[in-house]
Amino acid sequence: MRVSITVVLLLLLHGAANAAAVDLPQPKLFPAIISFGDSYADTGNFKILAPVSPYSNLPFGETFFGRPTGRASNGRLVVDFLANKSGLPFLPPSLATGQDFSEGVNFAVIGATALPLTFFQERNIAPVQVPPLNTSLADQLEWFEQLKPSLCNDTAAAAAARGDGGGCEDYFAKSLFVVGELGGNDYNFILFANRTPEETKAFVPAVVQTIGAGVERLIQQHGARRIVVPGNVPMGCLPLLLEVFASPNASDYDSYGCLARINALARYHNAQLRAQVQALRRKYPRAAISFADYYQPIHAFLTAPFVFGFDGNRTLVACCGGGGRYNVNGSAFCGLPGATACADPSRAVNWDGVHQTEATYEYIAKSWLIGPSAEPPILTLAAH
Ligand SMILES: *[C@@H]1O[C@H](CO)[C@@H](O)[C@H](O)[C@H]1NC(C)=O
Ligand SMILES: *[C@@H]1O[C@H](CO)[C@@H](O)[C@H](O)[C@H]1NC(C)=O
Ligand SMILES: *[C@@H]1O[C@H](CO)[C@@H](O)[C@H](O)[C@H]1NC(C)=O
Ligand SMILES: *[C@@H]1O[C@H](CO)[C@@H](O)[C@H](O)[C@H]1NC(C)=O
Ligand SMILES: *[C@@H]1O[C@H](CO)[C@@H](O)[C@H](O)[C@H]1NC(C)=O
Repeated sequence: MRVSITVVLLLLLHGAANAAAVDLPQPKLFPAIISFGDSYADTGNFKILAPVSPYSNLPFGETFFGRPTGRASNGRLVVDFLANKSGLPFLPPSLATGQDFSEGVNFAVIGATALPLTFFQERNIAPVQVPPLNTSLADQLEWFEQLKPSLCNDTAAAAAARGDGGGCEDYFAKSLFVVGELGGNDYNFILFANRTPEETKAFVPAVVQTIGAGVERLIQQHGARRIVVPGNVPMGCLPLLLEVFASPNASDYDSYGCLARINALARYHNAQLRAQVQALRRKYPRAAISFADYYQPIHAFLTAPFVFGFDGNRTLVACCGGGGRYNVNGSAFCGLPGATACADPSRAVNWDGVHQTEATYEYIAKSWLIGPSAEPPILTLAAH
């Protein structure tokens, strides 16, 4: 029932967004967007840290940029659409040199976890990120804190002299902070270390508390007031996990062909994260904190693909890959020799087995900006 409501709302949104696509002047909704997260948000940091990886090769980037930018998709990510619709340029990766970060900066890294690398190493859980890197949320927050003086250097005295009461406090209070998605890799690492989805649930409170503590650090220490906290995707529908955890037992799958217990893990994370966001709203009433849902929209694309122009026969099949039932092949991941991309990525939900296509990300960005998939919708944060 919830799914069909989401489908209807997304459909209405699709029409409304297209109807409204006249050339209105675009005022900036936020002075800047400051992003943290993993491969769902990385706009080039991993490529700088690890230049030799599949993500540095075509067909990554083929659809929009025409070259690999380090984004784990064929084109733009949700954060790119959020920036563009906010009247801002794409967010440069924080590790790039010679960039202008004044209208946004992105600390996200492919493979990043919420929990620190040592948490996994101490438990003999091998990081799936190759090479293992210190790129967890706490690391990204430290990078932000190092960079912060160069993002805004307007002193309180200068603002007072102008009499506008602005200054950096205003800049950070009005900027949009996007904290996530995070947690997906934490659970991947643990599942790949042969823990069951039920055993993996035991790690959810630590992941969610770490995300909450990160948000709190931004509010308390840096004056963040407009914050988006994205949840997890239906991980049990990701072609990579479907391939790796393929089961002969039909009861392991839901009616859409997804791994039910892994999806239950993702929903458990999302429920806890929502509760964490609610607690933060109560504690910091001056901050506007939106929970942004990846789960329902992606699930809607899988259950009603025709509504969105997706190929209903291939919703669980990666567009780019090296063969097999889900087009995920360990020896021919997208970007490696032996892998090819489908002819029309705009008809595919999933790009490379783990990440989504630009088409999917564009729908999600719209549904976060004006609803129904972010509570409250991100546009309302601009008025906060
Ligand atoms: C948003 O994207 C459109 C289409 O690519 C582009 O024409 C426009 O200049 C972008 N807006 C900003 C503020 O960069
Ligand atoms: C990560 O950071 C820890 C603690 O600072 C350090 O001991 C470790 O060598 C670092 N690991 C990597 C891969 O950089
Ligand atoms: C099949 O999977 C279901 C649900 O995951 C489980 O309850 C059942 O024990 C499994 N059956 C076998 C034979 O493994
Ligand atoms: C799958 O493909 C077949 C043959 O092209 C087509 O008849 C059918 O409608 C498709 N199913 C969906 C769900 O799109
Ligand atoms: C996986 O990729 C390898 C290397 O390209 C290839 O030899 C193999 O046939 C592929 N497997 C499948 C199931 O397509």
